Amino acid sequence: MNHQHFLIISFRGQGHLNPTIQLAKRLVWAGAQVTYANAVDGRNVRTIKTPISMEGLSHTSFSVTDDDAGEPSSYEDRISEIKRVGSRNLRELIVSLSEKDRPVTFLIYTVLLPWAADVARDLGVPSAFLSIQSAAVFAIYHHYFNSRSGFYQSSKNEPPTTISLPGLPPLTPEDLPSFLLPTDPNFPIVPTFQEHILTLEKETNPCVLLNTFDALEEDLIKAGMENMKLFAIGPLIPLAYLDNKDRPLDNSFGCDLFDCSTDYLQWLDSKPASSVIYVSFGSLAVLKKNQMEELCQGLRESGQPFLWVIRPSNTSEQEEIDTMIKGRIDGDSGLIVPWCLQVEVLNHKSIGCHVTHCGWNSTLESLTAGVPMVACPQFSDQLTNAKLIQDVWGVGVKARADGEGVVGREEMKRCLDLVMGPTHEEGMRESASKWKALARRAVKESGSSDDNLRLFMAGLK
Ligand code: UDX
Repeated sequence: MNHQHFLIISFRGQGHLNPTIQLAKRLVWAGAQVTYANAVDGRNVRTIKTPISMEGLSHTSFSVTDDDAGEPSSYEDRISEIKRVGSRNLRELIVSLSEKDRPVTFLIYTVLLPWAADVARDLGVPSAFLSIQSAAVFAIYHHYFNSRSGFYQSSKNEPPTTISLPGLPPLTPEDLPSFLLPTDPNFPIVPTFQEHILTLEKETNPCVLLNTFDALEEDLIKAGMENMKLFAIGPLIPLAYLDNKDRPLDNSFGCDLFDCSTDYLQWLDSKPASSVIYVSFGSLAVLKKNQMEELCQGLRESGQPFLWVIRPSNTSEQEEIDTMIKGRIDGDSGLIVPWCLQVEVLNHKSIGCHVTHCGWNSTLESLTAGVPMVACPQFSDQLTNAKLIQDVWGVGVKARADGEGVVGREEMKRCLDLVMGPTHEEGMRESASKWKALARRAVKESGSSDDNLRLFMAGLK
């Protein structure tokens, strides 16, 4: 009998929940018990549907903020409150599971929760970090904070014009995760990423699970990172979309933060194969008014039908912009939905292109569905992903933004033509098919990701 009991903790963001829930399912199917816990930020609770339930997988949550403590005055205060309250409540959770005769034998934590490893170590529980971003981005942070690769060469503490890292093509500062650029408004988040890397170095056998697969980032994974044990176990995507089998328990991630519409399926069914442009910017990015207008116009001028996800707005200004855009689109050429089951859409035969912000989940989902991309990165790791999509994996084209960061209508049209117009690049479709096949092979029984997951689990016994 297998007595492994994993506690997986994830921050409550769609891009965090999806791969972590998927990992929970895979561990349960490999014979382990899993408790899945959301790190809930009490001030920012949105409705959440319970993650998929199955035998061996239980769901709970723990708070990382004190609701009665008032709004923190700065970003730094907020991060330190999350650490203080989160550490305390995570400790209580692990202790209470033990008292209920369900001792946690291993903790898996994700980005923004680096202190979780300290709590686990204190309680004698081993832990692993699950990187929900690419191996490339993990490596960039690793080298950046270790500064062992000449990342900072100039006295001004600015990144050099070309950055060479083992296993990666030469990068420019524009290809780095935007948080590393001091001009980025999210720059204050950097110490949290640094803490992740430093926390791993405190471990005797630091263990990192990567949501990628060996073939995709082979050179990088082979190049290794100090003493870390790296396990590429992805793509962490519902198996129904990887093996096309009927899998009632695994045909969605199981947890949407937004209300999903379904009326797009009939619309997609009515379109010719590979003709539809799917447009989505993930769960966080908000586009400026002029970007929405340019995108709308570029899509219309492409002459192809498009399905565009515009999430419900949080502000009246944004609502006005959304209403204006919706007024310019007729339901036959373009359909707007507030949220969809993206993996299902990407695997629909009518989809020919994904206009994406290049969040890591979206990137992997497109690759796995064999859908080429127009990359419009907004922030964070998305810039690095866009570079890889175009220059390394050859599955898309990166749209060039103007000085204001806006991708104009002509540029959008140019990119769409390259991906799916009459003069499209044949090589891009071939690459997309190649990665689709390799991703599926990785998660099959005895595929590299399946093997790596079993190796990881066996190493813990
Ligand atoms: C965030 C960061 O922004 C991203 O850069 C990082 O790589 C992961 O965390 P997010 O912006 O939400 O994520 O993007 P992404 O990683 O692509 O995750 C979005 C998820 O939402 C995907 O799994 C996608 O399938 C899902 N989605 C999106 C839907 O199910 N329906 C939609 O309509 C849109």
